[in-house]
Amino acid sequence: MKFSNLLIPWYLQNKRDLPWRNTTDPYHIWLSEIMLQQTRVAQGLPYFLRFTEAFPTVFDLAKADEEEVLKLWQGLGYYSRARNLHQTAKHIAFELNGEFPKTYTELLKLKGIGEYTAAAIASFSYNELVPVVDGNVYRVLSRYFDIETDIASSGARKEFMQLAAALIPENQADIFNQGIMEFGALQCVPKNPDCKVCVLNDSCMALQKKKVAQLPVKLKKTKVTNRYFNYLVFSDEKENTIIQKRTQKGIWYNLYEFPLLETITDESDETILRLIENQVFVENKIEEIKLCNPEIIRHKLSHQHLHIKFWKVQVKGLLLNGIGWESVMNFPFPIVIYNFIEKI
Ligand code: ADE
Repeated sequence: MKFSNLLIPWYLQNKRDLPWRNTTDPYHIWLSEIMLQQTRVAQGLPYFLRFTEAFPTVFDLAKADEEEVLKLWQGLGYYSRARNLHQTAKHIAFELNGEFPKTYTELLKLKGIGEYTAAAIASFSYNELVPVVDGNVYRVLSRYFDIETDIASSGARKEFMQLAAALIPENQADIFNQGIMEFGALQCVPKNPDCKVCVLNDSCMALQKKKVAQLPVKLKKTKVTNRYFNYLVFSDEKENTIIQKRTQKGIWYNLYEFPLLETITDESDETILRLIENQVFVENKIEEIKLCNPEIIRHKLSHQHLHIKFWKVQVKGLLLNGIGWESVMNFPFPIVIYNFIEKI
């Protein structure tokens, strides 16, 4: 039996009812696909609902302040997705009169829209015959066809796109693409898939060769950098503090944080204490410095592991540019800092 003839009926019976599946509106589909990159459905869904409520149309998103967009994105991570989304919304609203491009090739030209997202929008909104290839699709196809190509290698995407494209039945790109991703998410899962109940188990090559656990092959390990962050939570006589916007390229661009003392290596608390005392962050005289989290906070990003300490720094007088805690919460923060603020 043909791959798609097994896959599509499975999808129709097993698919989750998700809001972006009951629409062909490219704005909603675009939002959902950007949000779901590197993010599980359970985590992304509430963000999708809040976003579409706050910004029902691409014009609403385009008119919003970037800070408002980042605040709503807070906790989803990979914040460049939100900044690109906002920039592209402005482009579509103001330069294209709110009309989304209608083909894969045209969609690819938009900022923040790569091959995967362009294919998702083109197939789900316009039923264009283009294959989506995400992590789920790599897994399903590499197992079903026993493909040992390293999915992190440069040629992998082209190979899998060609294969997937050949499997799509005419006029069913939308349902086939949704189906294969859903199949990867629910049935052909990374660890311990239940192949006994799989509708493809008669013809799955990896299952026949007992190679399910070895596929897909992914060789390139991402290199991880360790970084040591010490955040200075200043507090003056009115309990005002200081926050600042991250304006340097890299993680958390345009999000807010406390004044930061970063060290190259893991330094002792005594060393950090001395550095805080001797470096000039504010004009005020320091009264007391206290470590807030004796247990270091470890926060993992895709390429960086952050080791974070928060230091309360009590100062005399009033801080220049001090801000009250009730206002602090309105700014967009990396989630690890937001969680800290919520606790204190
Ligand atoms: N992950 C990425 N895109 C998705 C979609 N359209 N439905 C469910 N999960 C997804």
